Amino acid sequence: MPVSIMPMSLKDLGRVMAIENDSFSMPWSESTFRSEIIDNRFAYYIVARPVEGQEIVGYAGAWMLYGETHITTLAVYRLYRRRGIGSLLLLHLLQKALLKGHKRVYLEVRDSNLEARSLYQKFGFEQRGRHEKYYFDEDACIMVRNL
Ligand SMILES: CC(C)(COP(=O)(O)OP(=O)(O)OC[C@H]1O[C@@H](n2cnc3c(N)ncnc32)[C@H](O)[C@@H]1OP(=O)(O)O)[C@@H](O)C(=O)NCCC(=O)NCCS
Repeated sequence: MPVSIMPMSLKDLGRVMAIENDSFSMPWSESTFRSEIIDNRFAYYIVARPVEGQEIVGYAGAWMLYGETHITTLAVYRLYRRRGIGSLLLLHLLQKALLKGHKRVYLEVRDSNLEARSLYQKFGFEQRGRHEKYYFDEDACIMVRNL
């Protein structure tokens, strides 16, 4: 399905929150997204919108600072998964990091999240350690992609 990638704006937040609440057991609040968009000058958030259609089908975000990119979130609406949209969002963030001259992209992912870990491995991320009880109920696997 052809989609366009564009910056996340405040008017996207209703749909972002629907996807967020459906995708994560500990979802971010709307005010967290709002403050990322408005207040955080290091934040870069994007959405995937079908070329034919209004409703966004996925989003991703990162903090880009000190020569590194830290991916903070990535989700695709359940009905649109396994169509390459997660890959497209991730590629866009990797491209943006490259354009900024960053040398490294990293992220945390739940140990049990095999779908996401498989996606990241496909794009060259490698496991480089863990954060114990990062999600309170589970450890995080730290994954890194050198650029
Ligand atoms: C992880 C997620 C973003 C993937 O999005 P997607 O649009 O389905 O991903 P793609 O269609 O681009 O798939 C790319 C690769 O991801 C992996 N993958 C995606 N879904 C998978 C599944 N159900 N089982 C195994 N691997 C899977 C595969 O390696 C796949 O490559 P392949 O199709 O060649 O096998 C999506 O499953 C999601 O939103 N999950 C809930 C939120 C989440 O866990 N986000 C990550 C937080 S760190």
